[in-house]
Amino acid sequence: MKILEATAREGHTYRVIVGSGALSMGDWSRYTGAMIVYDTSAPRWGVEELARGIASSGLEARLHGVAGGEALKTLDSVLNIIDSMAEGGLDRWSVLVAYGGGSVSDTAGLAASLYMRGIEWAVAPTTMLGMVDASVGGKTGVNYGAKNMLGSFHHPSQVLVDTRIALQLPWAEYLRGLSEVVKHGVIKGWSMLEDLEARAGGLASRRPEDVEEVVASSLEVKLGVVARDPRERAGVREVLNLGHTVAHALEKATGYKLPHGDAVSIGLVVELRAGVELRGANPVLARRVEDLLSRLGLPTRVPSGVGEALLGAVWRDKKRRGHVIRLPIAYDAGDVRVEEVPMERLVEVLRRVAEPA
Ligand SMILES: NC(=O)c1ccc[n+]([C@@H]2O[C@H](COP(=O)([O-])OP(=O)(O)OC[C@H]3O[C@@H](n4cnc5c(N)ncnc54)[C@H](O)[C@@H]3O)[C@@H](O)[C@H]2O)c1
Repeated sequence: MKILEATAREGHTYRVIVGSGALSMGDWSRYTGAMIVYDTSAPRWGVEELARGIASSGLEARLHGVAGGEALKTLDSVLNIIDSMAEGGLDRWSVLVAYGGGSVSDTAGLAASLYMRGIEWAVAPTTMLGMVDASVGGKTGVNYGAKNMLGSFHHPSQVLVDTRIALQLPWAEYLRGLSEVVKHGVIKGWSMLEDLEARAGGLASRRPEDVEEVVASSLEVKLGVVARDPRERAGVREVLNLGHTVAHALEKATGYKLPHGDAVSIGLVVELRAGVELRGANPVLARRVEDLLSRLGLPTRVPSGVGEALLGAVWRDKKRRGHVIRLPIAYDAGDVRVEEVPMERLVEVLRRVAEPA
């Protein structure tokens, strides 16, 4: 079991507990009421463990089941959660617990931030992306016209990452979360990348120790970045976009048929290669990362036939300001800098480095 410290804002921290059995390790003693918003596709035993932990503090948790997935992220879902909290008589000193993937934590987190001007909330992630990324950082939100158009910064008060759930996930769901892990490795440095290389076999066979170690080290990287910029004001968090400009463009170019994790895997490789051409970044990094992602079983090449659509989508990226775009460039592992790149140059380089499968 690992206990990490997360920064919500200066002087305010919360605990992130990672490991087998984390669901039973919540601290519910200071609350007057509790409601668990749970994804009905996630293992039911997890809801029961959370509820038992809450009961041991003398509270009976109200349960609110939802169907997880992107379609959940609407204002209606937020209002349903709020209605349910009101019906259950939750007051300002109550806690909302999100048990699900990023869609559930984004939606429940927003509801918690609005109810009675904001109540505390906790996250117990049930997807790999939730475990290594979405559960920390304090961003909540739903889609409205555009993705994540309405949201807030509302950091959770505790995060319980029970890695037993990762061991039971559908294989593709598990695998796709690993591309964010590799991204965090590039941001952290060679020590983490080499550790991932050494554990690639263990990760591919879901050895519990490897999964736990890697989830914890990945979270530590995100927490480290967030701690320096908890409200995304200083631009520090932009390094976390590494691989995502191309990933988002690929998702658009394929009509969202390409799963996010696959798009991030390909996006990482393409952007690392682009860094070599654009800024003379270390070419060994691009090769080693491509190799690692392939060993894990993730795709690294742009699907054939989407090249032109990909370039068009990059051109329409919402981060573009006039003729430039701010792009994280990995000069080397552990040396990622966000820099302004002229759009025309980027598209010209991408045309060369985004080799189809
Ligand atoms: N707030 C943040 O910092 C942040 C960061 C990254 C992503 N996100 C958001 O997260 C969302 C994606 O989250 P996600 O990838 O976790 O997917 P998700 O929450 O959309 O879940 C994907 C699918 O898996 C199912 N599921 C969940 N847990 C399961 C389990 N244990 N076993 C079987 N099925 C399970 C869900 O019902 C759903 O069908 C996106 O909306 C994205 O914007 C937020």
